[in-house]
Amino acid sequence: MKRRSGRAFSNKQISEDMLESILEAGRWAPSCMNAQAWNFVVIQEPEVLTKAHEALSRGNAYAKAAPVMIIVAAKEDGGCSSHGLPYFMMDVGLAVENMLLQTVHLGLMGHPTSGWNEDQLKDIAGIPDEYRIVTVVFIGYEGDPEMLDERSREKEKAPRKRKELSEIVHWNKW
Ligand SMILES: Cc1cc2nc3c(=O)[nH]c(=O)nc-3n(C[C@H](O)[C@H](O)[C@H](O)COP(=O)(O)O)c2cc1C
Repeated sequence: MKRRSGRAFSNKQISEDMLESILEAGRWAPSCMNAQAWNFVVIQEPEVLTKAHEALSRGNAYAKAAPVMIIVAAKEDGGCSSHGLPYFMMDVGLAVENMLLQTVHLGLMGHPTSGWNEDQLKDIAGIPDEYRIVTVVFIGYEGDPEMLDERSREKEKAPRKRKELSEIVHWNKW
């Protein structure tokens, strides 16, 4: 319940130990047949971050304050082949949630995103052609919501919502 996709990032740096423990949490995620389809490109050098910010959608401009972005990339055939399903996405999803929970544990905030230009980001980060960027996670300390633009501030203050259990849970039979 404490995890949330916050937008008000402080630009305060996070320690290398914290960053390493977040990556370590990702590394220990379960994956189908232990395929571990995930790859993480950690961007924290200010010049590289500034370049990468150019690839963000306008709605994700709030993320420019975050001192770290982790590009999560995988090969589309990098997961196990059970049921013909794209299990690489599940591997990556589990690794990302592990990392997000670790950020909460460390008193930080993590925000997964899909609003960016993939080709631009791949180019900046030197990601090989055969990999897809599944998500980009922004990590940092929580900052002041008053620094956000009006739209982001509204989203930041809105209550988190979920479908009711009764809509999604089927007991004994669908
Ligand atoms: C795959 C994925 C992509 C997302 N893309 C964006 C995004 O581009 N921009 C954004 O602000 N939030 C993005 N989010 C965050 C969701 O909007 C957020 O998780 C959802 O509204 C639930 O809110 P909560 O995480 O605070 O519980 C994304 C989340 C996921 C899992």
